[in-house]
Amino acid sequence: MSPSAGADGSVDLLVAPLALPAGGSLSGTVKVPGDKSISHRALLFGAIAEGRTRIDGLLPAEDPLSTAACLRAMGVTVSPIEAGEPVLVEGVGLDGLQEPAQVLDCGNSGTTMRLMLGLLAGRRGRHFVLSGDASLRSRPMRRVGEPLAQMGARIHGRQDGNLAPLAVQGQPLHGSVIGTPVASAQVKSALLLAALTADGPTTVIEPAPTRDHSERMLRAFGADLEVGGDLGRFITVRPGPTLRGQSVVVPGDISSAAFWLVAGAITPGADLTIENVGLNPSRTGILEVLERMGARIEVLNARDVAGEPVGELRVRHGPLRAFSIEGPMIPRLVDEIPVLAVAACCADGTSRISGAAELRVKETDRLAVMARQLTAMGARLEEHPDGLSIAGLTPLHGAEVDSETDHRVAMSLAVASLVALGDSRLHRPEAAAVSYPGFWDDLARLRA
Ligand code: S3P
Repeated sequence: MSPSAGADGSVDLLVAPLALPAGGSLSGTVKVPGDKSISHRALLFGAIAEGRTRIDGLLPAEDPLSTAACLRAMGVTVSPIEAGEPVLVEGVGLDGLQEPAQVLDCGNSGTTMRLMLGLLAGRRGRHFVLSGDASLRSRPMRRVGEPLAQMGARIHGRQDGNLAPLAVQGQPLHGSVIGTPVASAQVKSALLLAALTADGPTTVIEPAPTRDHSERMLRAFGADLEVGGDLGRFITVRPGPTLRGQSVVVPGDISSAAFWLVAGAITPGADLTIENVGLNPSRTGILEVLERMGARIEVLNARDVAGEPVGELRVRHGPLRAFSIEGPMIPRLVDEIPVLAVAACCADGTSRISGAAELRVKETDRLAVMARQLTAMGARLEEHPDGLSIAGLTPLHGAEVDSETDHRVAMSLAVASLVALGDSRLHRPEAAAVSYPGFWDDLARLRA
């Protein structure tokens, strides 16, 4: 059988595919790495605070390393990022970032590039160029550049400012009232960062609530930030206060826990406990959908750690029902949709995902990639412009599959392989390192 090709028809044949043997079960305890969204924010906010920020539990993966490298290139001292070690950021203050002599390389990380645009737009008199890998250079940036331009920002790039490389010429920014064009925490966070040094208050209005880690953490650092509106989605920042270095404890990433939640729910005999998972309500859509499906999930030892809710999750195998998701639920589980598509293959009935066109502009077009790769395993699904319909209880068979360079696709396909009849092989498994470098070791240990 030949490897299933990526969207561009290419498959990297130099790196050996990973064997994913069929059969067996999963049991034991796993501690997922730190939350990616919170890790980026802790580094960025620490950099523009005054004094030292100590970060415990920072995700030691490629995406946060990209953020740290960009900050170092602008004169910020960030201690080495190593698993299990606290990270220290020596803040340079709101206006202390130096003009970098080189292009800022954001790697594969949309969060790095978008938040950085907001952070740099108001650094008057300084010039910055941001770029990244082939995936990031194809992702839309106008959604950030356009609202920032309303505040006075000057950002130029390919496709009339939509595609990186992007050049930012720092400008004085004006406080504004801005409705964001898409429900995106990255867009919102970029505007909140720009608002910190504008000449007056800025209010950001979101079309639907998105993850609120920036709001929580900016407040903890001392920003004057108020959340209001019917759904709490009017966020106002008043410039002025100095941000002060903090101690940040990063909880485990529920988006990484999602692979084990689905793996545990679909694999016969499975019983898994996932420790120290962030349970911020803006991120727990995956738990609500799995519960609706009838999954056997318990939340244990729920507590608050440094301003974020945290708990242990226990999941056991059991029968699942099909689900439908759309509307405001989508931003609450946007990164979990690839693995939810795998869960749908094992549920009774047809599951429907709609209102999820945003998935087409993630690290890959995740609707197309998951449809292509799950079809290679025998799934019966239909791809729609804004979602997928997936017929459940269709037996998956072992296949030659490909992450197509997307970390969440790589791990979702590994979960699918657990219930396939026959062995699978995954091309480009190394993509997982973007958010979960220890995933393959954890998988081997939990299967043993
Ligand atoms: C993120 C927000 C989401 C998510 C991404 C991380 C963040 O993107 O998909 O993985 O840290 O703010 P959007 O804001 O584009 O929805």
